[in-house]
Amino acid sequence: MPDPSELQGLAGPAGLAGLDVDFAGVRLKNPVLVASGTFGYGSELSQEVDLNALGGVITKGISLRPRPGNPPPRIVETPSGMLNAIGLQNVGLEAFLNEKLPYLRRFDTRVIVNIFGESVDEYRAVAAGLAGVGGVDALEVNVSCPNVKAGGIEFGTDVIQLKSLVSALKGSTDKPLIVKLSPNVGRIADFARAAEDAGADGISLINTVIGMSIDPRTRRPRLANGTGGLSGPAIRPIAVRMVWEAARAVKIPVLGMGGILTADDAIEFILAGASAVAVGTATFVNPRAAPDLVEGLRRFVARENLPHISRLVGGVITGNA
Ligand SMILES: Cc1cc2nc3c(=O)[nH]c(=O)nc-3n(C[C@H](O)[C@H](O)[C@H](O)COP(=O)(O)O)c2cc1C
Repeated sequence: MPDPSELQGLAGPAGLAGLDVDFAGVRLKNPVLVASGTFGYGSELSQEVDLNALGGVITKGISLRPRPGNPPPRIVETPSGMLNAIGLQNVGLEAFLNEKLPYLRRFDTRVIVNIFGESVDEYRAVAAGLAGVGGVDALEVNVSCPNVKAGGIEFGTDVIQLKSLVSALKGSTDKPLIVKLSPNVGRIADFARAAEDAGADGISLINTVIGMSIDPRTRRPRLANGTGGLSGPAIRPIAVRMVWEAARAVKIPVLGMGGILTADDAIEFILAGASAVAVGTATFVNPRAAPDLVEGLRRFVARENLPHISRLVGGVITGNA
């Protein structure tokens, strides 16, 4: 976990002070990002949200070639959450660079490109294709998608494979690497350490938790894929626990996510050790969830008389105090 004092003193003029952070070498005006796959390529929600208000946008997962994703139904509502099995549908690297990135570049917000591959070579090719590209501030490496047949989660659930992937990517890009860990493992700290040892500049967690829902009348799974990834408030306590365990295991910064709706939810993650947070499923309920969260954090910092939000990073009080 980074020393919170290292994160302080970056604040701008009074009034706007207190929320800016340096995450894995990327300067964010505030610690609120939108999570991969829940905000498209940015333009989809531009009517509702001023992207300039956000710390950053994490794009939909990008693969080397376009992917159609899984057949429908791909989304099911569940208690306090949802199951999805989109299967990493995306336009592919070339169309992303030509058609999607120019739009995102117009805004004063950080752009983190989420990348995905079915093999180390594909991951490397995507990272290499983004190397040196202006307007891309960092890569988030998805090693944790539960909804595709090949790649992704294989790397996120095997420490050896994770290390070799991250080491390979380090040599393919000049961008900071944020490794997105899978919650579908026994000991998250081992995976956090493996990512750090292999050269990751930050980690993000959690991706979705594998789940299943069955329609009692048809006796069939509600998702065409059978299983899917559970997200939303239902997974928040799992996510907070995993951020806490991972943050204590590493020195690189942690981006926390999983069911964040409100400022209090985000503060839970920050107290558990996250330096920044991402809003995912909440955007489907309230498209303005992320900018509202920025305002909520601003109010929280003011109400608590905190000089800077980084004072709270890892500040959970545990034990019998
Ligand atoms: C519809 C949907 C699509 C997603 N697509 C991606 C993706 O392409 N890459 C990725 O790393 N995570 C993806 N995720 C995972 C989210 O980025 C996030 O890690 C997860 O949903 C937990 O946060 P939340 O509970 O706030 O949604 C997706 C999640 C949802 C709900």
